[in-house]
Amino acid sequence: MNGGSNMQLILFPLPYEGHMNPMLHLAQILHSKGFSITIIHIQHINSPHPSDYPSFTFRSIPHGLSGSDVTSRGVVEIITLVNDGRCVEPLRKCVAELVAASNIGCLITDAHWHFTQSVADEFQIRRVVLRTGNISAFLAMVGLPDLRRNGLLRSSEDPLPDFPHLRVKDLPAVKAQSPLLIEQLLSSILIQTKASSALIFNSFNDLEHEPLLRCRQLFSPNPIFPLGPFHKQLPLTQTSLPPQPPHSSLSWLNTKPRKSVLYVSFGTLATIDPHEFVEIAWGLANSSYCFFLWVVRPGMVSGSEWLESLPDGFVEMVGERGLIVKWAPQREVLAHPAIGGFWTHNGWNSTIESICEGVPMLCYPCLGDQMANARYVSDVWGIGLLLGDKLERGEIEKGIRKLMTERENGGILTRAKDLKEKADFCIKEGGSTFQSLQNLVDFILNT
Ligand code: UDX
Repeated sequence: MNGGSNMQLILFPLPYEGHMNPMLHLAQILHSKGFSITIIHIQHINSPHPSDYPSFTFRSIPHGLSGSDVTSRGVVEIITLVNDGRCVEPLRKCVAELVAASNIGCLITDAHWHFTQSVADEFQIRRVVLRTGNISAFLAMVGLPDLRRNGLLRSSEDPLPDFPHLRVKDLPAVKAQSPLLIEQLLSSILIQTKASSALIFNSFNDLEHEPLLRCRQLFSPNPIFPLGPFHKQLPLTQTSLPPQPPHSSLSWLNTKPRKSVLYVSFGTLATIDPHEFVEIAWGLANSSYCFFLWVVRPGMVSGSEWLESLPDGFVEMVGERGLIVKWAPQREVLAHPAIGGFWTHNGWNSTIESICEGVPMLCYPCLGDQMANARYVSDVWGIGLLLGDKLERGEIEKGIRKLMTERENGGILTRAKDLKEKADFCIKEGGSTFQSLQNLVDFILNT
């Protein structure tokens, strides 16, 4: 143990799986360094399961929204409303109790919870910002309001100043339905991240060396800690959970040849329309040279509960060539030797999980940081291919064929293997993430 056993860290995640999971992973890493952990979460929106984390203390605070606000509003609207003052008082009360009861090392909050800076200031505790995504996409996104002010968002095909690999259309607000709300949110995130004490990313130096230098300049003098990949450094903890039986996807993968299966999943938030769903189904069915494991999240196809929009007889026609599931243990799936490619929406967790297993990607980004992530995967790191803007069965089949049968020719597989080795190395003693974690522990202890 090299942390402070009597020092308490307060962590406050965003209540969405793609943000909550990395925050909980970070909490586990810091707990393994000797810190006590309290997780504050928003009541009734995707609450975590305290029984999965017996060593942590959980405190919930009300969000101040009506039930219909929670069910009818989009993610950005909900985040904006909570940031707008509704949660300040409950958070203040909760932090006051924790401060009175223990020695607080810092308050670590998701970058989106910018309202928390005023609470940290009031109690004179340091706020450390966790950006659960990568560094490049974060820098490009928080620069968006300035680009708009300076009239630099003319054509959606224009390259972004300072990010020659990205185009204007890769920024979230350009495609979104409520661009102004997103820009206001990004503006506040930038201001309050500058006002914070430090910044953590789920990324690593070898993957984003140059963006890291730029990030250090932008947020100077605050330290930046690239601590990823989080999920690869979790200590093997004893929990009270019974051992889980192997998931049906893994048993199915066990029957398939090496690198013969395309894994398809679009994460926890993205939705598609029934027409796109049918095009995906035919694109997969027509790619007869590979197997596929397809996660269709209930509610992912708008207007359907699950598979109602599939063509009649589709599942029987595909037979053993494909398996459709509601959920898969993705990290284990990606590590399985039968997996040869990942058709992904490029949420950052999926992207870094794929990088860590050396699995090449077919990219179909949908929202938020996903467009920028996809562009980096295809054009900067060279470990995947970008599908066109429209989901059409012929284009899908072409993309899958290229990924699954020609991946060795273009060097995609070699680069993916190389990045996997770098990801493996950075968390070992002497690696950049290993060192960065030690620096963060020192930073927290030196109050
Ligand atoms: C959201 C945002 O949309 C994304 O842009 C941001 O980077 C993170 O939050 P999300 O849709 O949640 O993304 O996708 P992703 O970041 O990839 O996270 C999904 C997580 O759920 C991954 O850790 C993945 O392993 C897990 N998952 C998903 C499963 O374990 N099984 C599944 O079947 C589906």
